[in-house]
Amino acid sequence: MRSEITCRPMLPDDGVALMRLHRRAILLDGVRAYSPDLARSWAFGLSPEGYRDHAEAGEAFDVAQLNAAVVGFCSTKDDLIAELYVDPAFTRCGVASGLMRRALKRIHAEGHDRARVLAALSGVAFYEAMGFRAIRGRIHPTRGGLSMRVLEMVREREPERGRSADDEARMCMA
Ligand SMILES: CC(C)(COP(=O)(O)OP(=O)(O)OC[C@H]1O[C@@H](n2cnc3c(N)ncnc32)[C@H](O)[C@@H]1OP(=O)(O)O)[C@@H](O)C(=O)NCCC(=O)NCCS
Repeated sequence: MRSEITCRPMLPDDGVALMRLHRRAILLDGVRAYSPDLARSWAFGLSPEGYRDHAEAGEAFDVAQLNAAVVGFCSTKDDLIAELYVDPAFTRCGVASGLMRRALKRIHAEGHDRARVLAALSGVAFYEAMGFRAIRGRIHPTRGGLSMRVLEMVREREPERGRSADDEARMCMA
């Protein structure tokens, strides 16, 4: 069966699903670029309420869904891609690409000509594929106390091509 991935704004009840997905993405995929100890520190302290708290502090969240299941999420604040995680069972299906197009649309609509991200090393190939370029390496603290190497990357605004983020969400085998 082929099903379509759709993107929508985060809802108040999404917290538990986002937290589970977030942990799995770090511990199964993020860990490929770091040590298990560092991945555990990165995943430490996640809570269902955390996403709502971040939203109240000004972060805008989008959620990707497949057959009513949450399979990814992305948040932005000003010109920054703050969080981007995809369920490891649904990577390489275009989930993050669809979320990124929505995020970039919002960033540009808010008047920023450049988008920024502090990319985990596990996400660098994805960001490069999305047109980001590396600026410099940074050391970033994690919730669990260890620090991780990340790459500050930027992407300049490109001319519109006339298709919406939702239109471009690719089909994925369920
Ligand atoms: C990085 C991540 C968000 C990518 O999500 P995704 O839904 O699999 O990405 P997409 O399917 O939209 O990939 C689009 C393109 O990016 C590139 N890409 C994505 N993941 C890649 C990988 N692991 N290795 C190499 N290239 C990759 C490819 O060019 C891909 O196109 P293709 O599948 O046609 O080859 C996801 O793997 C993830 O959550 N990783 C763990 C957490 C993390 O590192 N998040 C980033 C935090 S800043």
